[in-house]
Amino acid sequence: MSVLLKKVANPLLSIYKFAHDGREQWSYDYISETMARWLLRDQMTEIYSWAIPNQEAIESLVSLGPIVEMGAGKGYWANLVKNAGGDIIAFDIIPSNVWHPVDYALSGVVKNNSHRALFLCWPPYAEPMAYNYARQYKGSTIAVIGEERGCTGNDDFWEYLNDNFTLNKRVVIPQWYTIHDCLTIWKR
Ligand SMILES: C[S@@+](CC[C@H](N)C(=O)[O-])C[C@H]1O[C@@H](n2cnc3c(N)ncnc32)[C@H](O)[C@@H]1O
Repeated sequence: MSVLLKKVANPLLSIYKFAHDGREQWSYDYISETMARWLLRDQMTEIYSWAIPNQEAIESLVSLGPIVEMGAGKGYWANLVKNAGGDIIAFDIIPSNVWHPVDYALSGVVKNNSHRALFLCWPPYAEPMAYNYARQYKGSTIAVIGEERGCTGNDDFWEYLNDNFTLNKRVVIPQWYTIHDCLTIWKR
């Protein structure tokens, strides 16, 4: 006996089908463009960075003078800034030495380096990290890469920036599919 079941909302299936051009099954000989882009982004963020640097973004950072980068990941941006003639020191709670030395983010690093511009590239979403560092920072310039009021930092962070700094520059960078990140530079 067939039973007529109620159709329920199933966002997971919708996302799956979106990534597979409407199909409900994958196959070895077919991969959708969407899925390929998502897979590529996943891998590239692991190896390089969450954001894709271009020349204008690198030059804009170098022009800020000395920089302290927090949450620097593997140090990909720090390496490019340094190679372009910039002065940058990089920190993270996971130290590494892949593209550039990234030292452990001890407390006090931001406050003690307030003579440098503070650089945050994709600070964690819905976490207080960016907000905390912005409040500890006593200097004049904060550069952020990520989605403004999107999946970057938290609301407190963006409110703090808007209340205490003025947007000085916005730089377009290459964006991964469905991502809306850019570089913004804020001055106190
Ligand atoms: C989304 S990832 C971005 C990493 C890097 N900026 C990039 O573009 O590849 C966020 C980074 O913030 C780091 N992080 C999280 N909390 C932190 C904290 N309190 N201090 C410093 N780094 C932190 C994580 O370890 C991670 O590397």
